[in-house]
Amino acid sequence: MLRAMRTNTGEQWIKQRIARYGPVSKLSLFGAPTVFMTGPAANKLVFSSEALAPKQPRCLLLILGRRNILELVGDDYRRVRGAMMQFLKPDSLRRYVGAIDAEVARHLDAVWAGQRRVTVLPLMKLLTFDIIATLLFGLDRGAVRRELADAFADMLEGMWSVPLDLPFMAFRRSLRASKRARRVLEATLREKRDKLERGESSPADDLQSCLASLRDEGSGRRLLTDEEIVDNTMVVLVAGHDTSSVLMIFMMRHLAGDPATLATKVQEHEEIAKNKADGEVLMWEDLHNMRFTWRVALETMWMIPPLFGSFQHALEDIEFDGYLIPKGWQVFWARPAASFGSHDTRCTEKISLPCAHRREWGGRASAWRERRSARGKGGGSGEERMAG
Ligand code: HEM
Repeated sequence: MLRAMRTNTGEQWIKQRIARYGPVSKLSLFGAPTVFMTGPAANKLVFSSEALAPKQPRCLLLILGRRNILELVGDDYRRVRGAMMQFLKPDSLRRYVGAIDAEVARHLDAVWAGQRRVTVLPLMKLLTFDIIATLLFGLDRGAVRRELADAFADMLEGMWSVPLDLPFMAFRRSLRASKRARRVLEATLREKRDKLERGESSPADDLQSCLASLRDEGSGRRLLTDEEIVDNTMVVLVAGHDTSSVLMIFMMRHLAGDPATLATKVQEHEEIAKNKADGEVLMWEDLHNMRFTWRVALETMWMIPPLFGSFQHALEDIEFDGYLIPKGWQVFWARPAASFGSHDTRCTEKISLPCAHRREWGGRASAWRERRSARGKGGGSGEERMAG
């Protein structure tokens, strides 16, 4: 599977596996005994079973850090998630539309305009990275941003690799790159804290400033430790980058071969542009008028889900589809894609929506999150306990 991921044939690997062994099978993945599952019954299990908990393979944990949100449950999960939502909630996001628009315009002028031929993949990845670096870390163009971009690219290389920390192995390179990225993020965090204390910046400036400014309402202590802020900004960097860039790349690929859809989309954008003064940036409200564009995005995610799958582990023995999943086993759940070919995967269409639009998940994902929050000790929600 790791080879398939690296050679961009992951989907083919899944199809072949289903054809050979059906939607449930076992394998060894990242050195752990694993149950592979996909399809409607697997979706139901993953989103409703109390006996499964999210758990990333050890290699991801070592690369992203032990306090990253994907690892947390109970109070810790609620607290960290609540803190991140302060920055990622729609009310906050509406402030960033203009900044994103400016970054896109800069890219179009610098590397797209006037070119007879462009290679979309690296350009989209660069654009997504630049947007994230501006919004999440407040990093302007320059040496620090380049250092983070290089470390990030090296880190991704070994993320799906055999987790052996040995010379010349991709995993070791990835671990080292993760340390480099972490050093950059630790330095930017120190800078954000200093600026906040001197009153030279605001919590709304970027994700790091926002997380650094949050205090627990009861004790007045910092809501997140520095380690939690760094680990979780690493997660957001990875979670936001690979998903959004993959979506845009495949949308463009589809549009390049579908002139009718492209024309309707261009018309929708021109309608919005013609009501704008020269140089006026995009507003949150304009996004609501991009209904057709949004449908193209949804259809693209339906055809090619940007997330390949997710990792869980069994908290107890589970009986599933006539099989027994032993306690402690890793479960790799592959996201359904239209191209996997089973007509009944249609009913899971909503699962591939981006996390910012969870309301449309029909409550399934939020129920799953509630269960995850309920694991461990009880307590108020992160949002309730927040101040700052
Ligand atoms: C097309 C774009 C995107 C897609 C398809 C996508 C998809 C997903 C999915 C399926 C999950 C798992 C959700 C769950 O199981 O609860 C997830 C989690 C997450 N995503 Fe996204 N995402 C996208 C963009 C982003 C962006 C832009 C960011 C941040 C800037 C982001 C940050 C996160 C975080 C922090 C989590 C973990 C949330 C948690 O565990 O509660 N994602 N995303």
